[in-house]
Amino acid sequence: VARPLILAIESSCDETAAAVIDGEGVLRSDVVASQVDFHARFGGVVPEIASRKHIEAICGVCGEALDAAAVSLAAGGEGAGSPVAATSSALPAEGEQGARPPRLRWRDLDAVAVTYAPGLVGALVVGVAFAKGAAWGADIPFIVVNHLEGHLYANKIGLDDFAPPAVVSLVSGGNTMLVFMADWGDYRVLGATIDDAVGEAFDKVAKALGLGYPGGPVVSKFAAEGDPAAIPFPRAMLHSGDLRFSLSGLKTAVVTYINGERAAGRELNVPDICASFTAAVVDVQVAKARAALEETGAPTFCLGGGVAANPSLRAAYEQMCAEMDVRLVMPPLSACGDNAGMIAEVALDRYRAGKFASLDADALAHGDL
Ligand code: KG4
Repeated sequence: VARPLILAIESSCDETAAAVIDGEGVLRSDVVASQVDFHARFGGVVPEIASRKHIEAICGVCGEALDAAAVSLAAGGEGAGSPVAATSSALPAEGEQGARPPRLRWRDLDAVAVTYAPGLVGALVVGVAFAKGAAWGADIPFIVVNHLEGHLYANKIGLDDFAPPAVVSLVSGGNTMLVFMADWGDYRVLGATIDDAVGEAFDKVAKALGLGYPGGPVVSKFAAEGDPAAIPFPRAMLHSGDLRFSLSGLKTAVVTYINGERAAGRELNVPDICASFTAAVVDVQVAKARAALEETGAPTFCLGGGVAANPSLRAAYEQMCAEMDVRLVMPPLSACGDNAGMIAEVALDRYRAGKFASLDADALAHGDL
């Protein structure tokens, strides 16, 4: 076995995830259990529910990651190419106490790593406390990882030749930012949203249209059939001269339009609304990404976060990168969303650098790159 063997845990929002990486950087397992169904009826992530669902899932998800890693190590070879959904057996059934035959044990590991920030504090605390307990019980080093740095490292998953310098667009339900990666560990936030995240805007537009949660996938589906030029929604901060974003004005413009149409007794053209909203988002994202690439001269552009699944955004970035002769790296969608494989990738570098955390490290809602 190529040492070190590290188990990484991610619980910053509504995914409970665990992964094992070996000393050659091969992900031996990469398991994600999504809670999205439990939050859907509330139209967004409910922090209290997220914490409780992490408590329920964390033993099962870590157990599955350890078991899958043991199988992968015994078989040799490639390891997990990208994150996989937890099987239902990772999640305890009603009243079950999670009896599973142990295969890879805590004491077989060389370190335990965990996301400590940024995110929902009550959700982070579950992963942090669990990881600390494991590191303390097994008497092995403890490593803490910033979630945003994880998204940058996600570009390594399934790609052998990804390396900085690169501009990365992080677009999720909680974050919207452009980051310049000069090197591993050397990052500069070029600009971020001053209010809502892009994914949040998709979710709020979907809610206003009564389309459910999460909004991104369903808005994408309708947008494919609509006219992106039908309604001139605002392109906020398009000409602001910097790389910051603002999404709350666009969200309000869409909601105001919807309310106006309803008040006038007109039937909503949902595909046109979704396509026009998406076009307003994409135009600004692409203009700022282009400016970031020009400013930094980076040869590579990458994406991270759940909104990276948006087909209009992906198509626009493909065109932009072709025009600019820039390499486009779009990680598999499972690696764009929250996962522990990306946390494991960071943890391996931390381990090699001997950067371990104290067992009184805290979970933090905010944490800069
Ligand atoms: O990174 P992620 O899985 O986790 C959080 O930030 O919580 O991102 C989730 C976000 C949600 O807001 C969701 O609506 C959005 O990503 N999303 C999309 C698409 N698929 C998911 N937004 C736009 N288009 C999509 N196809």
